[in-house]
Amino acid sequence: MPLVSLRQLLDEASKGGYGVGAFNVNNMEQIQAIMEAARKTRSPVIVQASRGSRAYSNDQFLYHLMLAATEVYAEIPTVLHPDHGNSPKTCKSAIEMGFTSVMMDGSLMADGKTPSSFQYNVKVTREVVEMAHARGVTVEGEIGCLGGIEDGHGAGLDGLAHLTDPDEAVEFVHQTGVDALAIAVGTSHGAYKFNRPPTGETLKMARLIEIHRKLPNVHLVMHGSSSVPKDLQDIINRYGGKLKPTWGVPVKEIQLGIKNGVRKINVDTDSRLAMTGAIRKVFAEHPEEFDPRSYLKPAREAMKEVIAQRMTEFGQAGHAGDYQPISLAEMAKRYAQTGASAR
Ligand code: G3H
Ligand code: 13P
Ligand code: ZN
Repeated sequence: MPLVSLRQLLDEASKGGYGVGAFNVNNMEQIQAIMEAARKTRSPVIVQASRGSRAYSNDQFLYHLMLAATEVYAEIPTVLHPDHGNSPKTCKSAIEMGFTSVMMDGSLMADGKTPSSFQYNVKVTREVVEMAHARGVTVEGEIGCLGGIEDGHGAGLDGLAHLTDPDEAVEFVHQTGVDALAIAVGTSHGAYKFNRPPTGETLKMARLIEIHRKLPNVHLVMHGSSSVPKDLQDIINRYGGKLKPTWGVPVKEIQLGIKNGVRKINVDTDSRLAMTGAIRKVFAEHPEEFDPRSYLKPAREAMKEVIAQRMTEFGQAGHAGDYQPISLAEMAKRYAQTGASAR
C-alpha cells in the first residue's frame, strides 16, 4: 500500500472513536520496531521525523526506508510526517521528498525556541496549508507552546506558561484551515515532564475538553505524550544509567483525551527509554559483545513492545484493514472542491 495521508487516517480514527500514535524515528531499527508493532496489533501508523532526525539520517535515507516499510508491511496504512516543521521552507522540502503530511509549528519562531505572535503563526501556517493541500498533503498546526528542555523545541519553556487559549484555537483553525491541531495543556517534550504524578493542576485535561467542546470536528493532537514508565526508567538505572525520578503522561489521561477529540498522540521518549534500557542491559551483562546486532536487536524488540502496548491502549489496534487508501491526487481534488479545510 502506498503512503497515505494523515487526514484520511485521522478521519477514520474519528469515525471509530480511537487515537493513533505518532512515533518518532531516526533510523532503520526504529522504523522496523514500529512496523512490527503495527503488524502484530493490526494498526494503522504514523511515523514521524523531527528536523533533528531528518538531518541525522538524511531525508533520502528516511524516505526510502519508509518506502521499504510500505512494501514489506503492505497491509498497514502508513503516514510519513515531519514533526515540528519550523518554517514553510522546511515543510516544502518534506512535501517535495514525498512525506504525506506536514507539521508547521508556527507557535514558535523559526529558531524553534521563541514563542511567536498569533498573526505570525496564522501567516506561516496558512501558507503551508495552501501549498500542502494543493498536493493532497495534510497539515498539522500548533497553537499554544509546549514545554520542554531537551530537544530544541520550546527549549526551556515551562509546560504551563503558554497553554492553548480555547478561543484563539477556534480562530486559528478558521483562519488557517489546518487538518489537525496540536494544543498545549501542560505536557512537555522529553523525560522530565512532571516531578510527581500529574494532577489537574499540572496536566490540564479540563482545558483540552473545553477546546474540544468549541472545536468538536477538529482532530486534536497531544504532543509530549510519553508515559515515561517506571519499569523502563528502572532498567536504565539498574544497568548504570542516571535518570532522575520523573513522571510522564498517564495512559488513562491520554484515553480521556481520545474520548474528547484527540486523534494523534506523539510519542518519542518512551521508545528512547526502551531502546536505551535494552542496550545498557546487553552492555552490562555481556561486556564481551561488540557486534552492533547483539544490542540493536534487543533494542528494536524493546521498542516494538512498548509501541504495541500503546497501539492497543490508544485503540488503533485492529483497524489496519478498515479502509482503502485515498490517493494524494484525490485528496487534492477534495480540498479544491471543499475549500482549504475540507471540512
Ligand atoms: O519533538 C520532539 C521529539 O522528541 C523529537 O526530538 O528533536 O531530539 O529529534 P529531537
Ligand atoms: P515525548 O517526549 O513525550 O515522547 O513527546 C514526543 C513529541 O511530542 C514529538 O513531537
Ligand atoms: Zn512535539
